Amino acid sequence: MERDPVSRLIVISNRVAAPQPEGEGGAQGGLAVALSAALREYRGFWFGWSGNRIEEFTGKIDFQRHEGVTSATIDLEEQDVEEYYNGYANRTLWPLFHYRIDLAEYDRSFGAGYERVNERFAETVYPLIEPEDLVWVHDYHLIPLGRQLRQRGVANRIGFFLHIPWPPARLLTTLPDHEHLALSLLAYDVIGFHTREWLESFQNYVERELGGRCDPDGWIHVGDRSVHAAAYPIGIDYREFSEAAASEAARSACERLRKSADGRRTIIGVDRLDYSKGLEERFLGYRRFLEENAERRGEVFLLQIAPPSRGEVHTYETIRETLDELSGRINGEFAEVDWVPIRYVNQGYGREDLAGFYRASNIALITPLRDGMNLVAKEYVAAQDPDDPGVLILSRFAGAALQLKDALLVNPYSKEEISDAIRQALAMPREERVRRWRSMIETVRSEDVVWWRRRFVAALAGEDVEAAGSARA
Ligand code: G6P
Repeated sequence: MERDPVSRLIVISNRVAAPQPEGEGGAQGGLAVALSAALREYRGFWFGWSGNRIEEFTGKIDFQRHEGVTSATIDLEEQDVEEYYNGYANRTLWPLFHYRIDLAEYDRSFGAGYERVNERFAETVYPLIEPEDLVWVHDYHLIPLGRQLRQRGVANRIGFFLHIPWPPARLLTTLPDHEHLALSLLAYDVIGFHTREWLESFQNYVERELGGRCDPDGWIHVGDRSVHAAAYPIGIDYREFSEAAASEAARSACERLRKSADGRRTIIGVDRLDYSKGLEERFLGYRRFLEENAERRGEVFLLQIAPPSRGEVHTYETIRETLDELSGRINGEFAEVDWVPIRYVNQGYGREDLAGFYRASNIALITPLRDGMNLVAKEYVAAQDPDDPGVLILSRFAGAALQLKDALLVNPYSKEEISDAIRQALAMPREERVRRWRSMIETVRSEDVVWWRRRFVAALAGEDVEAAGSARA
């Protein structure tokens, strides 16, 4: 998509999309996929951590060009990775922001490492920023970066987008130094959330804890600072995904799964192996379905693709062990010589394979306990056969539920609701499936990743946001 090069866009995030080694496509996460597309549209570059660890931080930048996107990456020290990425980002903020204060760890060394790495990012990137550049910072790893850049004299427009939920004020106040973290956000010009729910939690926090004022037009005022905050629900790259779904590789993946299903109905789940995804509860809900519907055993199976993630964090080791044990137990309990109820797969797949698997599946079971958005739900919808689409069962606690209202929405904590929804999906007449799908595909197609980034970048550039389309979420 050509556009006037009015200004460059500089994207900054912890991870920078890199060519994925064979078989690891599924582990990349929605953020990386969405931003590659954004950077192809604008000039500029993408700055972040290389994923490498070195003995002593040098600040050396490695520039690379891949598929039309320039990336600029730095290496971090072992201690940085431990305190900033494994520590504050993934042991403190990730669980807290997903409402799991029982799993959140508060440790001063994590907070110090988080600030230090944000300073390192700022120190390295600020000489590369030109006066007219728009700067777009992403996700919970880099909340203080805007403040760090301002302290170095960066006067550009800087935006921040949070790809995960913003927790309710009463949870956030359990974080020591929560005011410091939240006040950092006031250094930005625009703050984006996926849904109104996360935005409202933020506004509520600002009013209760910071004594700020939130105007109905999105302006937030705290002391002498004003910042614009709004909901910008992210979408999939619909065009690119449709092409992937129409590829030969997708067709053969679809055929492969259909053949192995051997006339059985397939229920699919695809998630990073993360406790926020509700995999344990999902398995238990499916188990309840098998228990209550003995006559349907042998007619269906659950294909759960769950590539391991953040393996150095012990809560992730624990959830992995729990799922190994639970899937084994359910299979042992219900399997027959010629049927296994759960195919539990710990590897990631590329987009084309996934598109084929989605199309071959009668039901998608996507039941995170809490999720900023969830793009798998949208990809599943995009991959369906318009004449004979599958059924999406979706957690009401995923951001996507606010847009995909025609999915079967369930409470992911309830085994009964999951079991009932599977039964309802299996019995759903084609007419109803088509009706629900048509309404969902309309949203997936029109509120895609291009729509998302245009709205955000328009706001960042100070243009009329509503002219770029209004949000339903
Ligand atoms: C989520 C986060 C992203 C992150 C991705 C993968 O989608 O919002 O910021 O990149 O998970 O997690 P990882 O820790 O492997 O980068």
